[in-house]
Amino acid sequence: MSFSFRQLIERKRDGEVLRAEEIRWIIAEYTAGRLPDYQMAALLMAVFKEGLDGPELEVWTDAMLYSGEVLDLSHINAPKVDKHSTGGVGDKVSIPLAPMVAACGAAVPMMSGRGLGHTGGTVDKLESIPGFRTKLTPDEFVSVVEKTGLVLAGQSGSLAPADGAIYSLRDATGSVPSIPLIASSIMSKKLAVGLGALVLDVKVGRGAFMKDLDRARLLAETIVGIGKAQGTPVVAVLTDMNQPLGRMVGNATEIAESIEVLHGGGPPDLVEVVYRLGEEMLMLAGISSERADARRRLEQAVSSGAAFEKLQQVTVAQGGDPAVLLDPSLLPQAENEHIVRATKGGYVVRVDAFEIGTAALRLGAGRERKEDDIDPSVGIAVEAKTGDEVTAGQALARIFWNDGSRLADALPLTESAFEISEQRGSPLVYGEVR
Ligand code: URA
Repeated sequence: MSFSFRQLIERKRDGEVLRAEEIRWIIAEYTAGRLPDYQMAALLMAVFKEGLDGPELEVWTDAMLYSGEVLDLSHINAPKVDKHSTGGVGDKVSIPLAPMVAACGAAVPMMSGRGLGHTGGTVDKLESIPGFRTKLTPDEFVSVVEKTGLVLAGQSGSLAPADGAIYSLRDATGSVPSIPLIASSIMSKKLAVGLGALVLDVKVGRGAFMKDLDRARLLAETIVGIGKAQGTPVVAVLTDMNQPLGRMVGNATEIAESIEVLHGGGPPDLVEVVYRLGEEMLMLAGISSERADARRRLEQAVSSGAAFEKLQQVTVAQGGDPAVLLDPSLLPQAENEHIVRATKGGYVVRVDAFEIGTAALRLGAGRERKEDDIDPSVGIAVEAKTGDEVTAGQALARIFWNDGSRLADALPLTESAFEISEQRGSPLVYGEVR
């Protein structure tokens, strides 16, 4: 069966509902490379503007899911649970969380994304560990879970390939913050890895794709709904993304901060989100029946060193150099540092995650175009967070940079991201949807 792609784009542009066979054709043809990017970008923008209704979204997600192989992990004798974030700035949660949960007895088959727009991606961060391979074949993916209890992979050629193709096109053409496109992107890749249950971290605020609570709740409900239709339990937790999470924004710097969490340290906001999501994962997996028990298990996994050991095991299994985990100063380091200082004293009332994320992107930590390479060593350390009291001249941020013209682009945004006044910040966790 064949359709006129131009007519389908025009119909979606005009707010019409596409039929199931039309949607399946678009996804299959685009994944096979038989539809040009410029037309697909136009369709995605029409979907961004007009949305997809319930049945359209179900078919769109299903077509993306079955655009490649779907793994069967049923032979692995442990509850399978994963976590996914809708995307944020400084959001390195998956890197400490997956080993912690695996150390508690769950299997964590995690398929993550690259940086998208101003947000960072777990896959880019992991690749700052020398040798770490995130592109795994389905057989390798399964074998790493069998060996270590977890895997930290990127969307690969044969698992949900439609998401791989559409994701980078959306990133380069401004159609990321669409509820149906985000929901189908996340669920297609999550369902492709034979998941038992999913905890979704829906980021809300300036640095998130969902800027307000109502839209974040709608995204959460949409994804929980797809999970129900596919028979996969999903719990969504809505967490703050007005300011960057933790202190580090970048790639190698975020690996270093993740290691701190696995050693029992790390910034309190990051630690709180990691444990909160970990509690949900252990409860969904049936390992804990109540939050306090889950918390105890996670704390024990960290204090015993078992969680850090899991990160070492998975790093070795995926070809990475475990020496950098023991000595994070071996991770790629930028050549220069520039300090942004407070121009007056008071309380920090805003550390704008969108501006910090965009500044990091301009330094080279993210991509302007889908074929761009990133620089794993650059980034920003946020030295003052919302609610902190600062004095004039105190460091608000440290910019790690390699290229002077990139620093010149990133500096004004980093400076304007900070507002100093007299009130304090917003809460970290807003609620949940089940
Ligand atoms: N995370 C994803 O996996 N996909 C999106 O579209 C946005 C965030």
